[in-house]
This record gives sequence, structure tokens and C-alpha cells, in this order.
Amino acid sequence: MSPTCKPGILEISPYVGGQASVPGVAKVFKLSSNESPLGPSPQVLAALDEAKASLSLYPEGSGRLLREAIAQTHGLDAARIVTSGDGSDALLTLLANAYLRPGDECLFSAHAFLVYKIATLANSAVPVIVPEKTTNSVIKVDVDAMLAAVTPKTRMVYIANPNNPTGSYLTRDEMARLHAGLPEGVMLVIDAAYSEYVTAKDYEAGMEMAARHPNVVMTRTFSKLYGLAGLRIGWMYGSEAVCDVINRIRGPFNTALMQQLVGIAALRDRAHFWQAVKHNNEWLPWITAEIRKAGLRVDDSAANFVLIHFPVCGTKGEKTAAKADAFLKQSGVILRPVGSYGLPDCLRMTVGTEEQNRLAVSLLQQFMAA
Ligand SMILES: Cc1ncc(COP(=O)(O)O)c(C=O)c1O
Repeated sequence: MSPTCKPGILEISPYVGGQASVPGVAKVFKLSSNESPLGPSPQVLAALDEAKASLSLYPEGSGRLLREAIAQTHGLDAARIVTSGDGSDALLTLLANAYLRPGDECLFSAHAFLVYKIATLANSAVPVIVPEKTTNSVIKVDVDAMLAAVTPKTRMVYIANPNNPTGSYLTRDEMARLHAGLPEGVMLVIDAAYSEYVTAKDYEAGMEMAARHPNVVMTRTFSKLYGLAGLRIGWMYGSEAVCDVINRIRGPFNTALMQQLVGIAALRDRAHFWQAVKHNNEWLPWITAEIRKAGLRVDDSAANFVLIHFPVCGTKGEKTAAKADAFLKQSGVILRPVGSYGLPDCLRMTVGTEEQNRLAVSLLQQFMAA
């Protein structure tokens, strides 16, 4: 008989990443994982070269060099930052490992990032899934419904802001209202993986809240706008007490020197950063408008992807998400089916290069016109 794992773990559906290949199709256009079409800064390649000398040695354990660079870039206290060499995913999980006890309730919204449920179940805690609301054709976290779901057993709340896969965001005031309604002993984890893309003036990534409130933590990543998804660098900002807790349970050398040096190089190349922002600002509205012109609902997005809704049964016959997905894949364009996020009639499309965007849009237009 094999040993028994903790209750909850076998209820987990393993995370499946965005598809990267299509059988029989030589050239693919991967718009399924919200990666940056610009890739990393050229300066990152020089940093990688420099880091080669460090491969045989353990890194300094606290990620000090990277923490200091992040602190300098964002005006934060380096002592209140924890870095990760396994993405922000690992930090979202470590927070659950540290704070969720068996039977505790963890709140997140209906179409939230899948890792929250995995981290909750892995700790034998109870996922409490709160419906979102649709306003002006945007599916969004419902602050009132979240607060109504709080019970004496609630221990943690995860909010992706902006949310993946809906692309919607909570304003600074909405997030403050959510926090104000939570008991002090409840941890609010603000997952700001896409914050670099947000241009709305009423948005705040979570730094201000985490600076002020001991029960707020913000997580960030180098995987998206910085174009470094393959190198798995993430970080979090929280109170000294929370960082102390996470530092006790994280891997002793959880951020390789190579990851630190690359992260620092990425942070320093502001020109590349702004180029990536500009690219998104140009193509996100274009994609949204063009796909809408094809007759599909596309939600306004604050991030680097859009959520496209397909009619299960439209006026021109069945134009389902599954059929659209199959049609696009014949030409090598891979979008992300989001049935596992509770959105079986939708596909998520990442903003790609100009070539990728034009091809994906024209295929969607052909699909709808057929
Ligand atoms: C909302 C959200 N949070 C976190 C992550 C994970 O990012 P990382 O690559 O830092 O683990 C993702 C990646 O898809 C995401 O969409």
C-alpha cells in the first residue's frame, strides 16, 4: 500500500500550461500563456553570460542583490521583500503553506488564477469560490460578494489584480474597501503579475496597501512584461513579520545568482520596459476592436491578453470556442481555452507580435464569416 497524502491533495486537478505545439503544424504562434512578444531585454543576455561564473557555487541565500535592486526600482524596503526562483507561483503557494491550516477557508473569485485552488487544497484547507459580476460586459471580482462570503473560518483571500483570464481589475478604492471589510487576522494576497501593463489612473498594484497593512502581501513576477517566463523569477512585498515567516519555510537558496543578475539587468533596462508597455498599449486596443468587429464579445482588459466570448449557438450557426480553437490551430495560432477557469465558451488571447496579432485576428474574422 502506498503512503497516504494529506487530505485535499487528490482533489487537485494538476495545472496544465498553455499549449506550445500543434501536431502536424511546423510553425506555431503561441498566444496561450501571456508571455511577452518582445522577449527579454538584450542586457539580460550579457547578465546571463556574467552569471556563468557562478554555477558551481551556492548563491547568497536571501536574494539580497535582487531584493536591493527591486527596492531601489520601486522605492521599497529591501527587508520586506522575498524573492523566488520558482516564479511568483511558489510565493503564492508558500503563503498558503504558512498560513492555511486544515479546515481554514480561503476565498477567491470564480474565474481566478488556478494556483490559488491548488495551494488551498494542498494545505487541506477549503476553497470558497465567490461568483464574479458582469458589468458593462466585463466580468469582475465582486467585492460585496467576497465580503459576504467571509466567515470566522476565513483565513486568506487571493485576488489577482488584474485578474487572469478576465483581464479586469479592482480599483484602488475597491481594493481598499475589500481590505477594510476583512478581519485583521485574514491575509489579503494581491497577485499583481500583470500590474506593469495597467495604465488606469485608479489602479494601485498593492504596494501602498502592503506597506501600510500587516495583513496584505503583494506578489510580482518577471515572467510577463519583463519577458522572462522561462527563468522563473518572482518576488513578494509584505510586512517584516510575514517575510520572516516565509523566509523560514522557503528553500534555503531559492533564488540562483543567475536569476538575481538577470532580474537586476531586466529592472535596469527601462527603455526595454517602456517599449514593452508601448507595444501592449498599441496592440491591446487594436485586437479588442478588431475582434469585436468580427461580431464577438471581447471584455475590456487591463493586462496583456483579452478574453473572447463565443456564442454557443449564434445566428450563423454554431461558432463555439472549441471550434474556433481548432480552426486557429490549423494555421498554427494557439490561444488558451479557459474551461478550467469556469469559462468554457471563451478563449484567451495574449497580445503577440504584430504578425501574430494580425494573423490571429484575420483567422477569427474568417471563422466568424464562414
Ligand atoms: C495571475 C497570475 N499570477 C501568477 C502567475 C505566475 O507567474 P510566475 O511565472 O511568476 O509563476 C500567473 C502566470 O500565468 C498569473 O496569470
